Amino acid sequence: MKWGAARFVAAESLPKTVEVVEGLNKEGLVVALDHLGESVESREEATTATQASIDILDAIQSSGVDSNVSVKLTQLGLDIDEEFCLENVDKIARKAKETNNFLRIDMEDSPRVDVTLRIFNTLLDRYGKEHVGLVIQTYLYRSEQDVLELGKKNTNLRIVKGAYKEPARVAFPNKKDVDDNFIRLVKLHLQNGNYTAIATHDEAIINHLKKWLKEKNIPDDLYEFQMLFGVRNGLQRELVKEGYKVRVYTPYGKDWYPYFTRRLAERPANVFFILKNMFRN
Ligand code: FDA
Repeated sequence: MKWGAARFVAAESLPKTVEVVEGLNKEGLVVALDHLGESVESREEATTATQASIDILDAIQSSGVDSNVSVKLTQLGLDIDEEFCLENVDKIARKAKETNNFLRIDMEDSPRVDVTLRIFNTLLDRYGKEHVGLVIQTYLYRSEQDVLELGKKNTNLRIVKGAYKEPARVAFPNKKDVDDNFIRLVKLHLQNGNYTAIATHDEAIINHLKKWLKEKNIPDDLYEFQMLFGVRNGLQRELVKEGYKVRVYTPYGKDWYPYFTRRLAERPANVFFILKNMFRN
């Protein structure tokens, strides 16, 4: 399993990760670094995770690589205490502002959306849209309303389909509805003049949006494509060749297991990819 995870995880240590980022930058890709981990159970673990993201921002500044940072609030103590989590993520957001960088807050499962929005809005008021942004999942019925609300504050949003198992009470059970909502919400946020990270590997959606972006003359500096490290590598580089900005979400660290198993659940073919390579070596 660990061997298989290497396809989706940059490295275990920060210095090695910075080397990987340098390589991606050389290929014209920009990066979002994520220190792996979620759902910590103790304050010590949350404090350590907070420091890890601060260290990433320092390493980005000192190495000069082109990368920002993503975090998950459960890694920063969300399930322990909301106020404690806010204190932790505030330290990272402050560092992002000090180093003229950007902090993206990932979205986790649906029971955590309201509290994530509360914490995010506090940070947005403190640090501004140039330094903090959020993720919206198009499988949730509520997301259109959230995009409209966040749009009023010109929030920088990463739009994704959503990776967690959700009940039909809160999320579209049919993939077609999730896909249609993805396109709808990307267009909505962009047409309201807001920065949008289009985070998908879905080539049909990407092609549709590329055409629409041209037709509507959406400025190049209002959006970027985003994909996961190790997924659709060829497509990432093709988009760069065509002149699009592409950011690779690049996880690193030792706590790779939950992240890796989500990638396998999304696409069981990944298991075969790993097995094939195991037999090859
Ligand atoms: P979809 O799953 O429909 O796949 C379309 C095609 O893409 C597939 O047919 C295949 O060709 C390719 N593909 C997709 N996944 C693949 C994989 N794992 N391996 C190989 N090929 C694959 N989710 C969330 O809930 N909260 C978050 O904060 C984030 N953050 C995030 C950041 C970034 C940069 C990305 C790209 C994604 C996320 N996600 C996320 C995950 C997201 O919600 C979603 O689960 C995955 O992106 C997979 O959905 P797609 O949009 O790629 O399409």
